Amino acid sequence: MLDALWERRALLVSGKGGVGKTTFAAALARAAVARGRRVLLAEVEVSSDEQQGPSPLATLVGAREPSPQVTEVGPGLSFVRLSPIEGQRLFLQDVLPLRVMADAAMRMRALRRFLEAAPALREMGVLYQMLHLIRRTRPDGTPLHPLTILDLPATGHALALAALPDALLSVMPGGPIGRSAREGMSMLRDPALTGALLVTLPEPLPVSETLELATAIQRHRIPLAAGVLNRVPENPFSPDGRAAVERLLDAHGPHRGQRALARLDRARSAEARLASNLPVPLLTVPELAATGMELVERLATHLTRPVPQAPPSSGRAGAHS
Ligand SMILES: Nc1ncnc2c1ncn2[C@@H]1O[C@H](COP(=O)(O)OP(=O)(O)O)[C@@H](O)[C@H]1O
Ligand SMILES: [Mg+2]
Repeated sequence: MLDALWERRALLVSGKGGVGKTTFAAALARAAVARGRRVLLAEVEVSSDEQQGPSPLATLVGAREPSPQVTEVGPGLSFVRLSPIEGQRLFLQDVLPLRVMADAAMRMRALRRFLEAAPALREMGVLYQMLHLIRRTRPDGTPLHPLTILDLPATGHALALAALPDALLSVMPGGPIGRSAREGMSMLRDPALTGALLVTLPEPLPVSETLELATAIQRHRIPLAAGVLNRVPENPFSPDGRAAVERLLDAHGPHRGQRALARLDRARSAEARLASNLPVPLLTVPELAATGMELVERLATHLTRPVPQAPPSSGRAGAHS
């Protein structure tokens, strides 16, 4: 299943804050690199009124300070922070007859304020820079960045990006903006090129929210690629063992162990609910006792491990291919 994901040109990692989007995006990038892919890992610059500290994504893959210029992190892996301003500059550069005019225009304070004020124009900048990077080729004509993995800051952002081409087309159907909106739209909506990965947690509420997000994303005709159920607790029990533990816990009254068992049950039903309601494959990612780069490495290893032959019954181990 992962190999099919990596055939696309852009993977958009979305989901609620705190579910593990950034961690998963980093691990997915590492896994793809380990399988011989070249990956551009991207994040989005937040607006200037929110403070953006050091980038968690950059830290997780060992990239230096993020910038709107693509930087090489290591063999096969590059990093970029998509910036509305950079995208707007690239756009002006493409539509104005001379590059110097674009640079001059971007130096105009009034224009900059105008571009920064309208959220749609910020999103347009981000989308434009992403398209620009995806379109870039090497001298031999092959893509410079065959696979871009984008860590989206919040669910709202994925939808804003998805809605953008329609919004732009409705106000400016013709001319260069219309043209680039149409181009963006056809790329974003082509399941061979783009796929959204919805990350969630194995609890009832996050699962409900994810199913809603899946519906909203599909309404915008962005292709879903997969669901990602993150932080699934390991189930150490065989069916017999589980029954024995339950008898033991019942006999001894309330116990911490009961909470753990209840969590396992919620994880199991979360998985079942997602599997039967999402129209795409579900990837399960284990909860691991690690953080930061170590967590990313271990998750990447998990993602690239050979898929185990289906065990006789009990197992809930990892990715469903
Ligand atoms: N599979 C996992 N196992 C253990 N901890 C995890 C896992 N995935 C994410 N985390 C932890 O959850 C927290 C939130 O993850 P993060 O990737 O920053 O979420 P998001 O980008 O969605 O806000 C981090 O502290 C991260 O280390
Ligand atoms: Mg994040």
